[in-house]
Amino acid sequence: MQDLSTLEAELLASVDNAADLTALEAARVAALGKKGRLTQLMRGLGAMAAEERKTRAAELNRIKGAVTKAIEDRRATLAEEALAARLEAERIDVTLPPRPESTGRIHPIGQVMDEICEIFADLGFSIAEGPDIEDDYHNFTALNIPPEHPARQMHDTFYLPDAPDGTRMVLRTHTSPVQIRSMEAAPPPYRLIAPGRTFRCDSDQTHTPMFHQVEGLVIDRNIHMGQLKGVLEDFAAAFFEVENVRMRFRPSYFPFTEPSAEVDIGCRFDGDQIRIGEGEDWLEILGCGMVNPRVLQAVDLDPEEWQGFAWGIGLDRIAMLKYGIPDLRAFFDSDLRWLKHYGFLPFDVPTLGGGLSR
Ligand code: DAH
Repeated sequence: MQDLSTLEAELLASVDNAADLTALEAARVAALGKKGRLTQLMRGLGAMAAEERKTRAAELNRIKGAVTKAIEDRRATLAEEALAARLEAERIDVTLPPRPESTGRIHPIGQVMDEICEIFADLGFSIAEGPDIEDDYHNFTALNIPPEHPARQMHDTFYLPDAPDGTRMVLRTHTSPVQIRSMEAAPPPYRLIAPGRTFRCDSDQTHTPMFHQVEGLVIDRNIHMGQLKGVLEDFAAAFFEVENVRMRFRPSYFPFTEPSAEVDIGCRFDGDQIRIGEGEDWLEILGCGMVNPRVLQAVDLDPEEWQGFAWGIGLDRIAMLKYGIPDLRAFFDSDLRWLKHYGFLPFDVPTLGGGLSR
């Protein structure tokens, strides 16, 4: 009869020495499989005398338990080793720079949007959005441009076909409707900017049917025009990355603000270059004003209690100014050579700390 303690030692050794999962499985089959050594010994029990069978069966069962447990332990150890080896083999250095051959570029419009969001986020503004397809009420009426108001003609609006109920939607002609939607959605105060696409039926070297604006809105108690000037001056200096920008507020008219102003920045035309912040020339960059009480009333705010200011900037225009891009239409030509020249590297995310445009 086989010495069971030798058998046990051999089986346990074959388990412990299994170098990988395949070897471990082979060891398991050799011990516990259909023709395994333990299995065969257990089959032999039937031929034994009752007394002898009892002690031997108990012993075989104990060995079976020990071998099974050893297999489980070995399997866990092998899994751990395999994971550690894989982690080691797949190790990557996340501090390495991106592959130099990355050729994708961020479009200057996207870059300038990111820059503006970064500047205003730093001033405590949040970012608001609204739909490109807008209803007449939000695009016009709520902004104090009732039907038949001459300002409607100024907008060269794209109209969608009339709905069965007689209403018609428009492609928003400006980002100002986002003011209304934001004020309808939550109680004051508001301090937000709304960058986005806008549409007008117009096309030449300085106009495209689709263009971009950034709306700004501040509504709170005791707000005055001095704060508007301060915010816009901070913005212009940060955006054009100069110490000081000369600014000129010219009286103007917008239905949604009273008083209204158009803002010029000081510059110098130097051959075909424009230098921002220096020189004796002026360039218009945005419209602004104190929010008209009628706009506040349209969103059920009491103008005696709440007031504020708003502005709208043509984003494409200031992108051209900042980056010396001569033709607006090229923005939307999808010309990869143009994008390679004027675009930005995806990993150069604009930050105030690291520099807006590096
Ligand atoms: N919505 C105007 C436009 O598209 C721009 C504008 C002017 C927006 C004055 C304003 C503002 O919020 O106060 O021409």
